[in-house]
Amino acid sequence: MINDVQPFDRETAARIARAFRPARWHGNRYDYYYTLAKLRSDPLYPGVLAALRGCDAPLMDLGCGLGLLAHTLRGDGQRQPYAGVDIDAGKIARAARIAERTGLHDARFTTADLVQALPDHHGSVAILDVLHYLPDEAQHAMLDAAAAMLVPGARLVIRSGLGDDSGRHRTTRAADWFGHLAGWMQTNPRRYPSRAFLEQRLHAAGLESSFQPLYGKTPFNNWLIVATRT
Ligand SMILES: C[S@@+](CC[C@H](N)C(=O)[O-])C[C@H]1O[C@@H](n2cnc3c(N)ncnc32)[C@H](O)[C@@H]1O
Repeated sequence: MINDVQPFDRETAARIARAFRPARWHGNRYDYYYTLAKLRSDPLYPGVLAALRGCDAPLMDLGCGLGLLAHTLRGDGQRQPYAGVDIDAGKIARAARIAERTGLHDARFTTADLVQALPDHHGSVAILDVLHYLPDEAQHAMLDAAAAMLVPGARLVIRSGLGDDSGRHRTTRAADWFGHLAGWMQTNPRRYPSRAFLEQRLHAAGLESSFQPLYGKTPFNNWLIVATRT
């Protein structure tokens, strides 16, 4: 159980975010400031790193964005093969460029719409802040496919805002809509999975799951879910 997970300290966040600085001084610094702010404020990656530590199965990161998870893994000394997939071709191009420029160990990135098809994979799976952007059927398909990807000892690590009647949920929903309207996220949020739905779906797929809040200092209703094959 990972209790009271906090974001990275300022030094660690700055070290990881450095990879996202533009190659030239006059280049665009948006990704750098975005990753720096996220690493400093969100306990997401410390929570996921703790959940994956000690497991060297190859990792598939579904909806990987800029591949920030891969950088935090290497910074943590975790060297499992990493593959990231995202629908946003611009993010994937930047993720691949940055990985190459910084010599990121064993990381590859692919553009794909996960609503249309899910990749072949055998190992661990990460689904971080992605589920609520997918229509219901695609959420179901992604969870079932992710469960089928797990090899013995591998882990399915999900971070998601949970749908419930809390004020935290309302704040999460408002912030995600704002992110979409402001152009930070191409896709609009659909449905936030409930805890009961996730528990039932993972159990039906033969997985044992644990849930813990991943609030850090944020006002959001974010939870970390770790599932393994029973
Ligand atoms: C909030 S971001 C999270 C990014 C990354 N997982 C992280 O935690 O930093 C959600 C990501 O899901 C991706 N996404 C949304 N719908 C998708 C789809 N249908 N197929 C693949 N990726 C998708 C978005 O492009 C975006 O990069």
